Formats: sequence, structure tokens, C-alpha cells
Amino acid sequence: MEKVLVTGGTGYIGSHTCLALIADGKQPIIIDNLCNSKPIVLDRIETISGKRPVFYEGDIRDRALLDRIFEEHQIQSVIHFAALKAVGESTQVPLRYYQNNIAGTLNLLEAMQAHGVKSFIFSSSATVYGDPASVPITEEFPRSATNPYGRSKLMIEEICEDQLKAENDWSITLLRYFNPVGAHESGTMGEDPSGIPNNLMPYIAQVAIGRRDALSVFGNDYPTADGTGVRDYIHVMDLAEGHVKALNVCSAKQGLHVYNLGTGQGYSVLEMVKAFSDAAARPIPYQIEPRRPGDIAEYWANPAKAERELDWKASRTLSQMTADSWRWQSQNPMGYEE
Ligand code: NAD
Ligand code: UD1
Repeated sequence: MEKVLVTGGTGYIGSHTCLALIADGKQPIIIDNLCNSKPIVLDRIETISGKRPVFYEGDIRDRALLDRIFEEHQIQSVIHFAALKAVGESTQVPLRYYQNNIAGTLNLLEAMQAHGVKSFIFSSSATVYGDPASVPITEEFPRSATNPYGRSKLMIEEICEDQLKAENDWSITLLRYFNPVGAHESGTMGEDPSGIPNNLMPYIAQVAIGRRDALSVFGNDYPTADGTGVRDYIHVMDLAEGHVKALNVCSAKQGLHVYNLGTGQGYSVLEMVKAFSDAAARPIPYQIEPRRPGDIAEYWANPAKAERELDWKASRTLSQMTADSWRWQSQNPMGYEE
């Protein structure tokens, strides 16, 4: 059975990707330091799939641990999710972000090199497109970064490119996610942010369940149809399946592979509020607040390259995203706490 090392595998996207890997007959081996996730996720993966991933609790900056994992398992590919990801926080503690995301990735790539593992899939982000000149965004758009988090993604993309120039028998895939939302359809796995959610969908879900009073809508004077920001929300299980497709298609092909993973469809903040309110059958109170610094008006993907080359297309609709998110939130009001 093909063994895949999944860094950050107990996190939001990593855990759903483990389900998709298991469904495809692969064996995920997880390393996670649990700085932003909980070990109960392993129980949920087992409940849903019948298989429990091998789990190493530890940091990707711990080279001895990585060496042990590569010695104990014949790893064929690495999917690298482990990172710190809060944009606002990254501007306050940039060194912590660079240390974790950049030094962690370097350590991981060096360990792969030492053990002859040459297939790498990296969680990049649409944030590498900065403030794009137009929409939809294709993979060829120029890249830029406006904050340390985004810069860490951009720097890792460039590190990967340099590594491929030096050793062209590697396969490196950069997956640029748009806005992952939703939860596993069972309602037993989903997104469980610690503290006040930074992102829209988990915030709305916590308003719906009564953990927060009202949503702050950050700006209604953008040049969009209803004045609120527009984003390309993608169901986390579609995203997870995209990783499996990328693994199957790209891991045997040497070189650099870059894909947008999005739906190609944008929705505004108020459209998201309405869709969630319909799914939860309750009003979502909100008030209009000033724009959030650093936000842009609108962006969405052109996902045609992934469809053409990976035979992958997001298939779940907005109402599935909100219904699954609500099922998770209503069955687990405090997330994985209980
Ligand atoms: P998450 O925080 O839920 O998952 C990341 C996991 O990595 C967590 O379980 C955390 O404990 C672990 N981790 C962090 N640093 C580690 C380290 N040094 N060693 C070991 N484990 C470590 O985040 P997520 O939403 O699942 O995101 C996964 C990846 O996708 C990240 O790289 C993120 O930057 C990227 N991404 C996320 C989004 C999004 O909106 N969620 C969008 C674009 C890209
Ligand atoms: C944010 C990050 C981006 C990251 C992405 C996915 C910032 C500035 N950008 O993008 O780098 O790749 O998450 O993790 O943080 N909104 C509200 N009220 C809220 C929360 C959000 O109105 O309480 C609005 C935002 O203004 C935006 C939309 O909802 O228009 C989506 O916001 P969010 O979920 O934070 O994602 P992004 O801003 O796209």
C-alpha cells in the first residue's frame, strides 16, 4: 500500500485529505505537533473510514523525528500542510511564522533528500497572487505578497523551484487553494478554529450556533454587485480529493506542477450569509463594519488547468458547503472540545 507522509494531518484540510487518501487505498502517516489541532481527530478519521492513520506527535523542525519516520516507513510521497496560517498574527510575530513555515519546510525537504523521497505536494494559497489585476486568476498570473504569511508561501514556492532546478528528478506540486470551507458530510469532522475565527465561514457558523452575537461584515463599499467582498469558496472534500488526483497524476512525473484549486465561481459575503441562514434555518445577525486592512474586493480561480490535467473539478455546491458546515457545527457546538 502506498504510504504518504501527511504533515499537519490532524488539521482542517489535512484531516479531510487523510479520508480521501484512505478512500483511494493509500496509507496516510501523519506528523503534527498539535499546535492547532487535537488528537481526537484521529478517532474521527477511524470512525468514518475504518482505518486509523499512523500518528507521530512532533514538529517538522525536529530532524531526528523526521529521520525516524522515513526509516520506519517506506514513504513514497509527502503532502505538506503543516504551517501557521493566520494572516493578522503573522504581521505581529513574523519571525515565528518564518521559523515555523520556512525553517520547517527546509528541514522537511532536507530529510526527504537524505532518504531519497522525491515526490512533494505543497499547500500553497491564492494569497500568492497578491492583489490580482483581473479575475478569474490563472496560474500564470504574477505573484506577490503583502504579509509575512503570504510571503512564507511565496518563498516556499521559490525554494521548490530552485530545488527542482538543482535536482530535476523530483516531482513538486504547488496547489494554490482558494477559500476552503465546509466539513465532512457525516458531520463528525470539520473546521475547529481556536479563539475568535479569522475567516468568514467559521465565524458565521459560530453566530448560527449562538457562540457569537453577530457577524461583522468587513466593508460594503467594494466595487462588487452588493458591495461586499467576493471569494471562491471550495468544499474541503473537493479540495481533499484534488490532492489525491494531484498525487496520482503528478508524483510519477518529474518537474514542477502548479494548480489552482477553486471552483471558478465567486460569492459575496452577503450571499454566504444568506446561504448559511437557509441551511441552518435561522437568521444570521450581522452589522456592517469598516473594511479589514489588507482585504481585496474580489478574486476567484480559473480552475481549467486542474480539470484538464488532473481530471479534477470541484463538484459540491454552495448549499452543500453550508449544509455540511452547519451539520458539523450543530452536532459539535464546541468543535472537537467535547
Ligand atoms: P490547520 O491549522 O487546521 O492545519 C495545520 C496543521 O499543521 C495543524 O494541525 C497544526 O497543529 C500543524 N502544524 C503547524 N505547524 C507545525 C509544525 N511546525 N510541525 C508539525 N505540525 C505543525 O490549517 P489548515 O486550514 O488545515 O491549512 C493547511 C495548510 O493549507 C496550511 O499550510 C495553510 O497555510 C494552507 N492553506 C489554508 C487555507 C485555509 O483557508 N484554510 C487556504 C490556503 C492555504
Ligand atoms: C484570508 C486571508 C488569506 C488566506 C485565506 C484563506 C486575510 C487578509 N487573508 O483570505 O491570506 O489565504 O483567508 O485562509 O486574512 N469577512 C467578513 N467578516 C469576517 C470574516 C471575513 O466580512 O468576520 C469577509 C472578508 O472581508 C472577505 C470574506 O469575508 O471579503 C472572506 O474572508 P476570509 O474567510 O477571511 O478569507 P480571505 O479574506 O479571502
